[in-house]
Amino acid sequence: MRTNEKFSLLFRKKPIASEGNEGGALKRALGPLDLTTLGVGAIIGTGIFVLTGVAAAKYAGPGLVLSFLLAGIICAFAALCYSEFASTIPASGSAYTYSYTAFGEVIAWILGWDLILEYGFASAAVASGWSGYFQTLLSGFGLELPHALTSAFNPEKGTYFDITAAVITLIITFLLTRGVKEAARANGIMVGIKIIVVLIFIGVGVFYVQPANWHPFLPFGFSGVTAGAATVFFAYIGFDAVSTAAEEVKRPQRDLPIGIIASLAVCTILYIVVSLILTGIVPFSMLNVSDPVAFAFEFVNLNGLSWIVSLGAITGITTVLLVMMYGQTRLLYSMSRDGLLSPVFSKVSGKSQTPAVGSWLAGMIVALFSGFISLGHLAELTNIGTLFAFAVVSLGIIVLRRNNPDLKRGFRVPFVPFIPILSAIGCVYLMTRLAALTWITFFGWLIIGLMIYFAYGRHHSHLNPLRRK
Ligand code: ALA
Repeated sequence: MRTNEKFSLLFRKKPIASEGNEGGALKRALGPLDLTTLGVGAIIGTGIFVLTGVAAAKYAGPGLVLSFLLAGIICAFAALCYSEFASTIPASGSAYTYSYTAFGEVIAWILGWDLILEYGFASAAVASGWSGYFQTLLSGFGLELPHALTSAFNPEKGTYFDITAAVITLIITFLLTRGVKEAARANGIMVGIKIIVVLIFIGVGVFYVQPANWHPFLPFGFSGVTAGAATVFFAYIGFDAVSTAAEEVKRPQRDLPIGIIASLAVCTILYIVVSLILTGIVPFSMLNVSDPVAFAFEFVNLNGLSWIVSLGAITGITTVLLVMMYGQTRLLYSMSRDGLLSPVFSKVSGKSQTPAVGSWLAGMIVALFSGFISLGHLAELTNIGTLFAFAVVSLGIIVLRRNNPDLKRGFRVPFVPFIPILSAIGCVYLMTRLAALTWITFFGWLIIGLMIYFAYGRHHSHLNPLRRK
């Protein structure tokens, strides 16, 4: 085979026409409200309940609200691009599937591999945030875990493994392998509780704000705001999960964009208000704790409410964990169905009809990550992976418009190519605000991924006519 033929094989594309029909066995039952609930369920979690604290104390100070605004604007641009893709190619697999049709296989693989990192580390980070609130609740009952098992590996502080984070990850894995329907029902109730708790925080907290705490507003200057944005970006991750439900939506072309944009809008408003109130109640330098939102109520002696907030946070964070880990198994499933990953990840088994073996494999790896790696590092790795995916999806819109101008689109991004370009620039800019170690780990991950692709996926891909079965 000639070199340029080999090269073009790397960019073989999935045909768009077949996309919407894949997995056609799934029932189309979801409407715009269900999708918005799903989105909010996937979005509000460790980001707002935990990372706000470190972002305010270390980077942004009371200017945290600007960090949320900046990250929110960049996400809004990316959400528009996701919406166009979701309304054009309503198939599960989200960004991975989009890039398979827009850019071709090798880029799809890179993006899929990148999303495995995103969902894996996000799940681990979310579990770590869960652990912080759970331990606060335990201490309310006078119970303490052995110190060595309270937090990630950090011998200087005498901690080695976050046992709570690892255990909750395995419990969620167990739930997911029992069947998705049960998990989805519990999800709806938990999302309701989470929103109520956030509204209680806003409604009560507003009376305890001391405007003096907002001065100085930008203690670390504007660069603190952008570094804060790169951290709290984590809080917005999840709206893309709405598009993973594409095959189960009644009118995907209309409802997916509504679900994506509405859930992002609701969360942006809540985040902006919560961050203002949080930094108004507690001096920002004291916010570097594992449960800042509950801590704010404790700070003004509202101990009963603080307890309720902790309980609500745990419930809310659980829904994020469910969606993230579900997203992970769905992604592995899609990649394996296309032949790029081992068939083990798409082998559906048991009464529950879930890819159980693949789920347990992924669940155990995530449990180890959540036990050993600190929340800050996990969140940064999640962010770099997600920002990269957002940038590729945004540019994908320009490519899809050029290559497939006549495709039926339920939703069109306005001002193409400007909005996709702004979105990509915004994402890359936030990536540059992340630590060098995060970049090194990210590149290491991508290189390992490419090695796997050339050793396995390229030959086993279902688009390969000479496929080894
Ligand atoms: N946005 C999700 C969270 O904040 C990942 O936990």
